[in-house]
Amino acid sequence: MSSYDVIVIGAGPGGYVCAIRCAQLGLKTAVVEGRDALGGTCLNVGCIPSKALLHASHSLHEAEENFAKMGLNVAKPDVEWAKMLDYKQGVIDGNTKGIEFLFKKNKVDWIKGWASIPEAGKVKVGDDVHEAKNIIIASGSEPSALPGIDIDEETIVTSTGALALNKVPESMVVIGAGVIGLELGSVYKRLGTDVTVVEFLDVITPGMDGEVQKTFQKMLKKQGLNFVMGAAVQGVTKGDGKNTVTYKLRKDDSEASIDAEVVLVATGRRPYTTGLGLDTIGVELTERGQIKTDSHYATNVKGVYAIGDAIAGPMLAHKAEDEGMAVAEIIAGQAGHVNYEVIPGVIYTAPEVASVGKTEEQLKEEGRPYKVGKFSFMGNGRAKAVFMGDGFVKILADKETDRILGCHIIGPAAGDLIHEVCVAMEFGAAAEDLARTCHAHPTFSEAVREAALACGDGAIHS
Ligand code: FAD
Ligand code: NAI
Repeated sequence: MSSYDVIVIGAGPGGYVCAIRCAQLGLKTAVVEGRDALGGTCLNVGCIPSKALLHASHSLHEAEENFAKMGLNVAKPDVEWAKMLDYKQGVIDGNTKGIEFLFKKNKVDWIKGWASIPEAGKVKVGDDVHEAKNIIIASGSEPSALPGIDIDEETIVTSTGALALNKVPESMVVIGAGVIGLELGSVYKRLGTDVTVVEFLDVITPGMDGEVQKTFQKMLKKQGLNFVMGAAVQGVTKGDGKNTVTYKLRKDDSEASIDAEVVLVATGRRPYTTGLGLDTIGVELTERGQIKTDSHYATNVKGVYAIGDAIAGPMLAHKAEDEGMAVAEIIAGQAGHVNYEVIPGVIYTAPEVASVGKTEEQLKEEGRPYKVGKFSFMGNGRAKAVFMGDGFVKILADKETDRILGCHIIGPAAGDLIHEVCVAMEFGAAAEDLARTCHAHPTFSEAVREAALACGDGAIHS
């Protein structure tokens, strides 16, 4: 039995970042992880592998669509799927090994195995019981199941199976037009699969700014993705070489079905707390199975904390990381804090979609007077040079004070551009502050400045 100041359960972005910060703050720290590799969902079957496949398939698209336009004449590229999967695995391994290195560097112990909490202050792994003054649960999430659908991770898959299919399928139905469905749907569409997305609501990516939702769906349709909207999926039947997805259209209750070689179920994720023994020690959960915490990430059981996908809030790696750092600082007696008003969200399709802060719909609902500064990438020389003139930057600012309330971007490098607005929002900046900041030319970021100018006397290039 060993004794620690902190034992973290789960080595995803929440858990591993938390452990490193704890160690940096002088706390004796261990992490229990049951997978064979560190990094959690994000590095093993989430953010990182999906971005590798998005990059590979986008490169194919560039070669097919844009190379010839620039006088680059190459033979039609041919997809070697097994090699693409090797590349993806190499990217995963490089990153997960990197965390092993960081653990060694920071003297964080990795206790291999699945943890349970027999009582506050104790963590059991196999037959060993370790003592910890503080236990931090960072056990993450898993795909949520839909009734009537048996996942086999071969042809009826969640994102995990979709990242490791045996071959590129001829056809795919994606259930759910959320982040996973659209990112992975885009990957397979670019690789040649006929992709149809079936969505329960009448809009894609629920919660996103309405204007972005419409533009994004239009662009995806132009790229060849098919959409069936307002359709409640009833079930999936496995047939010979194909699966049949049946759905009911919500507008008139009519039933229909589509056949596809592979069905990807991407209808959300739920917290994963199986096997921790939370009911034994009496840790309270919400109705949605999230671990209940106060503003210091403490559960109702003294000395037990929780962070990341296992608690409330957006299921995002950077949100989990920030909570990991905050709880470490709180345990070390510092003032750890996460500003939930400024957590960016990014969809890594081409073009990328990024947002932070309020949407127009939210501001209308709150009755808060606001102004809109919008700038099209058509007016951005750099975007046009790389065939990415579609899309826009939209900044929402308080009508009277000019303070930035939100920003929504669809266009090149949106996922990077959003961060200057995040920093500005953290500093309580006005749109004019961004507008008066010199931006290098020619960069995509000039579009952000132009949108900020459009909140005032007007953009220059529109
Ligand atoms: P996790 O990463 O889920 O890690 C939890 C870890 O705890 C796991 O490794 C698990 O094995 C371990 N564990 C659980 N119970 C125990 C136990 N009892 N004992 C020992 N170990 C245990 N987010 C983004 O921000 N950007 C993206 O681009 C992005 N892309 C994604 C793509 C896909 C396909 C998916 C599925 C998710 C994606 N996400 C993305 C979401 C992101 O992966 C999660 O928000 C993030 O991983 C949550 O981190 P976490 O540390 O809370 O949990
Ligand atoms: P999601 O919540 O983003 O989208 C699920 C979609 O499925 C919604 O549009 C919903 O209306 C639809 N849906 C639900 N039930 C349905 C039904 N019966 N029939 C048809 N449609 C139905 O969930 P998703 O895409 O599974 O992602 C899970 C989590 O992973 C998200 O919370 C996201 O934050 C995270 N993630 C983040 C990424 C990123 O940051 N780039 C990438 C991938 C995942």
